Amino acid sequence: MKIFARAPGKVIITGEHFVVHGSLALAAAIDKGVLVEAEAFEDIEIISKTFGSFSSKNGKVPPFFEPTLEAIRATLKFIGEKKGVKLIIDSNLPISSGLGSSSAIAVATVAATASALNHKLSLEEIVDLAMVSERITHGKPSGIDVNVAVYGGVILYKIGEKPKQIKLNEDIDFLLCCSGIKHRTFEMVSKFSEMKESYPNLFSSLVFSSNYFTKMAARALINKDLTTLGSIMNFFHIVLSRFGVSIKELDNIIEKALEAGCIGAKLTGAGGGGCIIALPKSGESSIVANRLKKEGIDTSIVKLPLEGVKVWQEKS
Ligand code: PMV
Repeated sequence: MKIFARAPGKVIITGEHFVVHGSLALAAAIDKGVLVEAEAFEDIEIISKTFGSFSSKNGKVPPFFEPTLEAIRATLKFIGEKKGVKLIIDSNLPISSGLGSSSAIAVATVAATASALNHKLSLEEIVDLAMVSERITHGKPSGIDVNVAVYGGVILYKIGEKPKQIKLNEDIDFLLCCSGIKHRTFEMVSKFSEMKESYPNLFSSLVFSSNYFTKMAARALINKDLTTLGSIMNFFHIVLSRFGVSIKELDNIIEKALEAGCIGAKLTGAGGGGCIIALPKSGESSIVANRLKKEGIDTSIVKLPLEGVKVWQEKS
């Protein structure tokens, strides 16, 4: 029996970095993600369509496979299984680009591993087990990426709390523009956190403001109040930029997106590379996306909301 699990990547609409320090953040699943095919096996074998393969029989673990291997081991231990699994990982998410690639791999891996061995995990259990992998990749992640990959849709997330699903009254399109520049999340998180040491009072006020503006952004999203949402996105980009996690390439894309007619734009994820999200006016996403593509910017339309992790089986 072959099991398939698919988990989505994500964009953070507001509150990245601040979420690590206790603020709410707003994030959404995107229609790019990771597909994992799994079957019961005597050992653990991981085949990545992009990064080669690894077998537990061969000893040394290449760095790319370590988080995935640990997520599998944690899952096997949790479900009390002695058997192993063979996994084939296929992803259309660019890595180290702020789109939640490592979380989507972890979530799909955990869900597929358990199912291939006839165990059903709750969504909370998938989050906990996928976090084993995320801690290896990112150090001290807030958990927002894993929660979006599991629950899907649009979520309001705060460390230590169950995410709150946001139901939109109408569909909303964002534009996703990627710089192609890779970043390391933990480096950006520690750079941003240095500001806490340098400016403790300003920092705590901004964590408070991030929480407040994120709630406002969620309300604006629900009511399709694009003007308010766009202004909040612009505010976040300025603050993130002042705190040193933007780069000129992202600032240039943002300027182009605003010139092309978007109401708001900001970096999404850890920054230092990766992608930006921009908010076009209602009904203008294709026109603006084409304008940006003509400028040579890698642009796609993100339609909200989309589902979280999904598991299914096929007879082999
Ligand atoms: O790894 P990224 O680029 O998707 O960023 C994750 C979001 C941060 O807030 C920067 C870190 C975190 O753990 O929440």
